[in-house]
Amino acid sequence: MSHQALYRKFRPKTFDDVLGQEHVIRTLKNQIKTDNIAHAYLFSGIRGTGKTSTAKIFSRAVNCLNNHDGNPCNECEICKSILDETNMDVIEMDAASNNGVEDIRELRDKVNFLPVKSKYKVYIIDEVHMLSKGAFNALLKTLEEPPEYLLFILATTEPQKIPATILSRCQRFDLKRINTSVIVESMKKICEEIGVEYDEKALKLIASNSEGAMRDAQSILDRCLSFNNNEKVDYETVIDLLGTVNYQVILEAANCIVSRDIKNTMILVDNILNEGKEVSIFLDELIICFRNMLIIKTTNSTDNLMRISEEESEDIKRLSSKISVDEIVRIIEELSVTQLECKRALNSRVILETRLIKMLHSINNADEIMNKIQELENSFKNNSIPVKQATADIKRASIKDDEKKPSIVINKMPEQTISESYETQKSTEPEQSSGNSENKSDEAIYNAIMNGWQTILKKIRSENAGLQAIIRESQLCEVSNKKAVFEFDPKFTFHISAANQPKNRQKFKEVLSSFLNEECEVEFIIKGEEKPKSSLPAMEDVYEDLKNEFGEEIVEFKQED
Ligand SMILES: Nc1ncnc2c1ncn2[C@@H]1O[C@H](COP(=O)(O)OP(=O)(O)OP(=O)(O)O)[C@@H](O)[C@H]1O
Ligand SMILES: [Mg+2]
Ligand SMILES: [Zn+2]
Repeated sequence: MSHQALYRKFRPKTFDDVLGQEHVIRTLKNQIKTDNIAHAYLFSGIRGTGKTSTAKIFSRAVNCLNNHDGNPCNECEICKSILDETNMDVIEMDAASNNGVEDIRELRDKVNFLPVKSKYKVYIIDEVHMLSKGAFNALLKTLEEPPEYLLFILATTEPQKIPATILSRCQRFDLKRINTSVIVESMKKICEEIGVEYDEKALKLIASNSEGAMRDAQSILDRCLSFNNNEKVDYETVIDLLGTVNYQVILEAANCIVSRDIKNTMILVDNILNEGKEVSIFLDELIICFRNMLIIKTTNSTDNLMRISEEESEDIKRLSSKISVDEIVRIIEELSVTQLECKRALNSRVILETRLIKMLHSINNADEIMNKIQELENSFKNNSIPVKQATADIKRASIKDDEKKPSIVINKMPEQTISESYETQKSTEPEQSSGNSENKSDEAIYNAIMNGWQTILKKIRSENAGLQAIIRESQLCEVSNKKAVFEFDPKFTFHISAANQPKNRQKFKEVLSSFLNEECEVEFIIKGEEKPKSSLPAMEDVYEDLKNEFGEEIVEFKQED
């Protein structure tokens, strides 16, 4: 018994069989119903979405003797002759193999003959982007003044390769990728029609791997059926055929990465690769998994997720709650670089393993650094103001010393971790300054302002919202002899002069003093301006301390010119 591929056996026969292209089909049917046919059409879109099928249906629909609501009847003499390819008036040309000027000239000579028995003489030129330049020119001549009975239907996956002169003479229809659910439903029907059992999960996996191309889905289905002697479509077979990795395994790998579990990540990778899966496929699935997490986190919805079912999206949602957007982005970037490197590498497995370890290590390292900073900060507790300031600033990733403009930069730290830790620390400290101590040291004042900054801003806001808008752009840089020095970035010229108006400075001083429970002077300076010298450790010393703790790779000393 001869075997016909599913995609040929199930080629749509009427417009109503063409799935997922309603926007195109409705217009075409209307044109046929109202006998409003153009002379040239172009069907474009990705592979396997119904371009050739629609062209063939259209060629029958325009000529059918017994049209039903725009659809060809497929029963009349004309329809039948076109279906069995004996109708001389419908000519199908594959531009991939007939792409020369001669081919089109021959066509041009023939178009002048009236159709033999049909209303329209139809030329279907498939893969039209393959025509040579000369052939396009020859075709253009025909398209310029087509006889009444002539109809061209062009189809292509690459419309951008078609000259504008041709495009402008065609009615263009873009066929879309077909939704996964539509593909699944269609495969279910096929399975039922040919009487084979199917696993719904398997069909979903096929559909999600076909990227919207129905023919691709049908081809995978076909391969799965022949593998199983036409008995069933099961998940395991599909996974094997696609060489893809079971979704649960991908989810587990993602979970290990999110939990920064180097050991189990490596065990999983080992298992996956030992099963003979491709590194590139594994990475691709993993990237898509993190991409889905990113979509869930940023859109708060499970629409537009790739390659997964409803239930699976719940797992992804759960996982995404354990990780920040910043970290997901970083992981996707790391994995993408790894993917590129693996493609070039002779031994992609080694690259995969090393880069994964490096990635997880750097995430863990960042945590460790934060802990060390905390320790360091505690050990500096009784030390000088700039050190205190320095450690606080490290949490925002860098320290700046305005006298020399050097800065210490902590490399490879995920922002989220930094700010989260900062938040935690802030919330555990009292909002208000510790209170009545009449004679605070400069350091105590510094700490109180730093820790209570939001409260101070709120207080100013309740008294003078405009002043708050100005002050909030400044930063405390030093407290010396009970005078708090705040600095503004030089770009805030307006803010600086406004803050320095005696009335404003007085108000701010009042609020600050009342917050501190102690008289405190204020001064505003422009970043980089000379300010009171301190006898406290220089930035270099702070850098030395940090460098000894974390190493040169992590802490960088930047000297600006
Ligand atoms: N929209 C669709 N609805 C139903 N079946 C479809 C659809 N698109 C494709 N198919 C299935 O895929 C097969 C191939 O479709 P068709 O040849 O029309 O695609 P195409 O867009 O021309 O692809 P290509 O770009 O590769 O030429 C059809 O026989 C049919 O089984
Ligand atoms: Mg085609
Ligand atoms: Zn008919």
